[in-house]
Amino acid sequence: AYELFDAEIIGIRNGYGGLIEGEYQEMSKKQFSGILTLGGTILGTSRQPFRNMRVIDERGVDKVAAMKKTYKDLKLDCLVTLGGNGTHKTANLLSEEGLNVIGLPKTIDNDIYGTDFTFGFHTAVDIATEVIDRIHTTACMVVELMGNKAGWLTLYAGLAGGADVILLPEIPYDIKKVAQAVEARAKSKKPFSIIAVAEGAMSEEEAKMKKKEREAYRATLPYDCISKRIAAQLSEMVGVEARHVVPGHIQRGGSPSAYDRVLSTQFGVHAAQLIRDEIYGVTVALDGNEIIHNKLKDIAGVPKPVPKDDHVLTTARNMGICMGD
Ligand code: F6P
Repeated sequence: AYELFDAEIIGIRNGYGGLIEGEYQEMSKKQFSGILTLGGTILGTSRQPFRNMRVIDERGVDKVAAMKKTYKDLKLDCLVTLGGNGTHKTANLLSEEGLNVIGLPKTIDNDIYGTDFTFGFHTAVDIATEVIDRIHTTACMVVELMGNKAGWLTLYAGLAGGADVILLPEIPYDIKKVAQAVEARAKSKKPFSIIAVAEGAMSEEEAKMKKKEREAYRATLPYDCISKRIAAQLSEMVGVEARHVVPGHIQRGGSPSAYDRVLSTQFGVHAAQLIRDEIYGVTVALDGNEIIHNKLKDIAGVPKPVPKDDHVLTTARNMGICMGD
């Protein structure tokens, strides 16, 4: 922004949390230098669920009014928000409330509607792929990757890591099909199989249940995560030694990949141009090779699951990878 116009930048601490509490810091140009290679955030972050945004908190704070007050007190021309689905829903809410808002799609889940990729996604794919690479030589390994509703990360890392089975939230699995795939490999004298499973994957039976019913059913099982459960089922059904690995939050950390550095720089410059041109109520997006922007109201809260005809999914199927169905 400094290169495009005479910008003054104020950093809001801890996301919407800081906007509610009025916690901020004036930023100098120097603070943006040397951070390209860093993971994490220099301003902090907090979880502020969208569903609670209109709920008065236990201290009696009206969060929306508090955020608008901070914006007005700081005499902001525009609020730039970085985040995933929840962030975009609140960004849209604030835009509807009259604030000038620009979103930037940042999540490892890659589930923001209207953009081919979010930044953070490819870095997580690289990390998850490395996890798969590092365990490639042992037993039947079930690797559980992040993604509750969207399986993008598991699909890409599974393909990149050479997984034999990939299970996504979008495609309910039949454990018998998974067992057959593992058995076929064992029979062909392949000493190991890799199963990449998204944390939000579910069996065909579970997919028929309502969310509450599914949660109640899962609470009766002796497994605290999907990978443990699948490993136990495969051990029993196929008689192989199956183990599970959950890399968890390491998928969200570390230095950003070159791809993400380029993408986030492109997104950031596009956002600065939008501010210069006073175009608000939008979020920046990648469409093919082009950086574009979509209206917040058109994309906020719209799900972006892996579609049945996704080209990477089709490639995986054509490679003979078992998708559990
Ligand atoms: O949205 C990013 C994400 O890492 C998801 O993939 C995951 O389901 C969720 O956040 C985990 O959130 P938390 O760290 O708060 O449990």
